[in-house]
Order: sequence, then structure tokens, then C-alpha cells
Amino acid sequence: MTGPELLRCEDVDAGYTKGRPVVRGFGLRLLPGEVVALLGPNGAGKTTLLTTLAGLLPRLGGTVALDGREIRGGRAREAARRGLVLVPDDRSLFTQLTVRDNLTLARRRQGSSMEQVLDFFPALGKRLKVAAGQLSGGEQQMLALGRAMIQDPRVLLVDELSMGLAPVIVEELLPVVRRIAEDTGAAVVLVEQHVRLALGVADRALVLVHGETVLSDSADRLAADPGLLERAYLGERAPDPVP
Ligand SMILES: Nc1ncnc2c1ncn2[C@@H]1O[C@H](COP(=O)(O)OP(=O)(O)OP(=O)(O)O)[C@@H](O)[C@H]1O
Ligand SMILES: [Mg+2]
Repeated sequence: MTGPELLRCEDVDAGYTKGRPVVRGFGLRLLPGEVVALLGPNGAGKTTLLTTLAGLLPRLGGTVALDGREIRGGRAREAARRGLVLVPDDRSLFTQLTVRDNLTLARRRQGSSMEQVLDFFPALGKRLKVAAGQLSGGEQQMLALGRAMIQDPRVLLVDELSMGLAPVIVEELLPVVRRIAEDTGAAVVLVEQHVRLALGVADRALVLVHGETVLSDSADRLAADPGLLERAYLGERAPDPVP
């Protein structure tokens, strides 16, 4: 890996009970603008891991550093201030508030303007006065992404963008995630059940099974050889590369 490293996770344990981690020994290095798909079957620990990286759950072990500076575990505000921003799988919008208010509330004093964010999601610009709860599923997801964007993320942690959405909507949204990474230099960790679509926008992918990373490879190689992913999902660990 070359260039300045943005995020480094080392030996991260995540879970709900001390001494009983759900995710064990997670490691990840991200460059600016990189998109990494985090794949794996239901219950593998993907949400647990993202929630922990965002500081919403206490970290059970390991270190996380952004720009070479450590981020303490279990400190959601510190993580967000440093630029680790989560788009949760339930979107967590203020459904009674308008699109504009949802964005304004998330905005930082010196952060991106609403216009900069709406540039990525022009459809939202026409819905600014509408309550978030009245939006379509696709628009709600745009708002959830927009609300993350307005916080000027360095690393965007996106948990199942596609939850409850038709594949055709997902197909529209995922390239926007790619463009966000390219245009802003933010790195993206993308948890996604639509494996083929995720590999279409990601640079690399990791497969988490029962809390352990069993496979890590380029998106191109994984897309070209579906058998690799199938075997990983079934719990076969890829052999370590020959040094
Ligand atoms: N609040 C919680 N308290 C205790 N255990 C939990 C909690 N939430 C999830 N778990 C457990 O942690 C494990 C990992 O769940 P997690 O939701 O992180 O998986 P996931 O990979 O995101 O799955 P999915 O693809 O279904 O979203 C599961 O065994 C789950 O039962
Ligand atoms: Mg999940």
C-alpha cells in the first residue's frame, strides 16, 4: 500500500460483553478516497464493527488511528469530530423534521455548506421543506448520506445502504458513494448485501464470517471469481498469500 494512510485499525475486538467479543482481531488500513466493501452473512458482526468504530459501542480491544493519531474507543463525539461518521442501517433521521432541518442540525460550524451536499443529491434540493418521514425510501437514504456528508467525513461508515430499497435505487445510490470518495477524498467502508453491486463500486472487499476476516482481496478479483466469495461465506478461510 502506498501514499498517506488515513485510517488504521489494528486487532480490534468488538461486541457487547467484555471478554466475549463478537468481532475478533479486525485489521484495516485505508487510503484517502478508497472504497472497501465489508461483506459477510447475517450475524457476522458487520454492524457491531461499524458501530464500534464510530464510538457508539465501547471497543473491547485493539487500536484505531486516523491520520496516525489514535481515537479512543466508546467516544462517539470524538470519533465524529475526528471524521469517522456512521450512516446507520436504520438511517436514524428526525422523521418529523424537514429535510433542511435534518441537514442543518448535523452541520458543523465551519463545515460543508448545504449547497455542497445537495450537489451530490440534487433530488433532495427539491424536497427541502418536506418532512423526512414523508420521503421515499431512496430519498431517505440520500438524506442519511447527505447528513453524514455535511459533517465533512474523513471516513464514511455506511451500513446497508440498500436496507428496504429496490435494487434499482441501490444501483443509483452506490455510484454516488463512489463519487463522494473520489471528489472529497473520504474513504468509505461499505456494508452491503448486494454483493455484485458493492463490488462494482469498491476497490477492495473484506469478508467477515463469525466475527473473523476470512477473505480480503481486490473487488475486481472477487467479481471475476464468485467461487472465492462463496467459499468464504461457507466459512472456508483463504490460504495466506505466499510471502
Ligand atoms: N444489542 C446487542 N446485544 C447483544 N448482542 C447483539 C446485539 N446486536 C447484535 N448482537 C449479536 O452480535 C452478532 C453480530 O450481529 P451484527 O448485527 O453485528 O451482524 P451483521 O453482520 O450486521 O448482520 P446483518 O447482515 O444481519 O446486519 C449476532 O450474533 C447478534 O446476535
Ligand atoms: Mg448489520
